[in-house]
Amino acid sequence: MGRQKNKWLLWVLSGALLCLAFAAGLPAKDADLVAGKRLFRSAEISETGLMCWHCHADFNEKKTPDSYVRPGHPMYNVGHKSKYRRWDGAPLQTIDDAIASCMIRWMTKRKPASYDGEPAQKHHVRQLVAYLQSEELSPEQKSKPLEPIVDDKMPSDRMLSLGDASFGGVVFRQSCGICHKTEGTGPAPSLIRNGYSRYQIAKKVRGLDEKGLNGLRMPLFSKDRLSDRQLLNVVAYVYQL
Ligand code: HEC
Ligand code: HEC
Repeated sequence: MGRQKNKWLLWVLSGALLCLAFAAGLPAKDADLVAGKRLFRSAEISETGLMCWHCHADFNEKKTPDSYVRPGHPMYNVGHKSKYRRWDGAPLQTIDDAIASCMIRWMTKRKPASYDGEPAQKHHVRQLVAYLQSEELSPEQKSKPLEPIVDDKMPSDRMLSLGDASFGGVVFRQSCGICHKTEGTGPAPSLIRNGYSRYQIAKKVRGLDEKGLNGLRMPLFSKDRLSDRQLLNVVAYVYQL
C-alpha cells in the first residue's frame, strides 16, 4: 500500500515539474529547434523549390563533407556572430535578418517585376534561428564574421576556352547538380542544350549576369567557394552539354 502511494506521489511531482518546464518555455524552444531542423531541408516553406540546404551545409563541412560544395557558406557555428552578411555582402545586425533576407530573395512567393519575394513568416525565422543557434550546430557559441570577397574580375575569353570538360564534370556534380538536375526536376532549369556562350555561363556563376528567371536570380559562387580553375573547367563542361 505504501509503495502504491509513493508511485502516485512521483506521478504528481513529475507532472508538476513538466508544467513548470513548460511555463519556463524550455520545451517550446526545443520544439522550435526540431521544427527549424526540419525546415532547413524542406520545400514546405519555399514557393520556388529552393531550400536552405541547397545553398548552405548544416554540418561541419571541413570535418564531414558531403559530396557538395554549395554557393553559400556553411552554417556550422554561425549562430553567435557579431555581424552577418546578406547575399550581396551588405552587413546585417542579426541572424534573424540574415535568414529573412535569404527567404525573401529565394524562397517566398515572388512579387512581379523584382527579385524580391513576400516577407518571411516570423515563426519560420524563429524556428530556424533556434536550430542554427542550437548546441548541435553552434557548439562554439562564437565565430568570426564572413569577410566579403570583392574580387569579381572575370577570366579572359582565351582563359575560358582552356577549360577541361572532363574535370568540369566533377565540379558540376559537386557545385551545380544539387540544383540543376538533368531531367529538369530540380529548383533550377536543366542545362542540357542551354545555348549559352562560355562567357555567359561564367558570368552567371560569378553573379555578373543581371537577368534571372521567374523572379529568381542564381546565387553567385565567390572564389573561396569555386576557384577560377574550377570555373574554367565547369564552363567547358556546361558549354558542351
Ligand atoms: C539560393 C541560395 C541561398 C538560399 C536558398 C539560402 N541562402 Fe542563406 N545565404 C546565401 C548567401 C549567398 C549568403 C551570403 C553569405 C554567404 O556567402 O554565405 C547567405 C547568408 C546567410 C546567413 C548569414 C551568414 C553569415 O555568416 O553572415 C545565414 C544565417 C543564412 N544565409 C541562413 C539561411 C537559411 C536559414 C536559409 C533557409 C531559410 C537560407 N539561408 C537560404 C545563400 C542562400
Ligand atoms: C542553389 C541552386 C543553384 C546552384 C547550386 C547553381 N545554380 Fe545555376 N541557376 C539556379 C537558378 C535558380 C537559375 C535560374 C535563375 C537565373 O537564371 O539566374 C540558374 C540558372 C543558371 C543558368 C542559366 C540557365 C537558363 O536556362 O537560363 C546557367 C548557365 C547556370 N545556372 C549555371 C550554373 C553552374 C555552371 C553552376 C555550378 C557552378 C550552377 N548554375 C549552380 C540555381 C543554381
